[in-house]
Amino acid sequence: MRIAIMLGIATLLGAADLSSVIESPDATAILAKDALGAPKSYVMPEGCITEDPAAIARGKYFFHNLNGKDAKEAAPEGLVKILPNGKEKQFGNCVACHNIEGSKGYGNIGPDLSNYKKVFIDSGARKAEFVYQKIADARVDNPVTHMTINMTNGLMNEREVCDLASYIVSSKK
Ligand code: HEC
Repeated sequence: MRIAIMLGIATLLGAADLSSVIESPDATAILAKDALGAPKSYVMPEGCITEDPAAIARGKYFFHNLNGKDAKEAAPEGLVKILPNGKEKQFGNCVACHNIEGSKGYGNIGPDLSNYKKVFIDSGARKAEFVYQKIADARVDNPVTHMTINMTNGLMNEREVCDLASYIVSSKK
């Protein structure tokens, strides 16, 4: 009888220790992979800012879409949607934080980028290089920025940042 009770308690105690049952995978590798490198300064490549309508169309698309399966519009010519590993590329969605010409349902965490050419470029307040760096790695200008980082983490390449910068500094209706 006493043995039976003791066995019963032992079973209960044993059952209470679930540490070996609960899965707790080591997330160190995942965290390291997602960690951002230090803020990085970039040199805007030659010919980056262009009036090429195809480049501006791609920049516009990045700005207004997430560019994955949730993208609202058909992708313009020359836009890379599928990565070499077969996954859908996710970037852009600048409209989540910025207003700009023709945006729908924009957020206001970031400044309004409407009329950017006139207000910021033609006035001399900003250079295209600033726009390029801001999109590539906003932390160089503002270490505590709330803006997404796009190049230091490999989300966008030079051409994609140039397409976006070209779209922002272009004159729009
Ligand atoms: C999560 C919010 C957020 C997202 C998403 C975001 N931004 Fe920003 N952006 C900001 C904030 C906040 C600022 C103000 C400066 C700062 O904090 O870096 C800013 C500043 C800027 C500026 C500088 C404006 C100026 O001249 O002062 C540009 C250009 C810009 N963003 C472009 C973009 C583009 C292009 C994208 C999409 C790839 C984007 N942003 C996505 C929040 C965001």
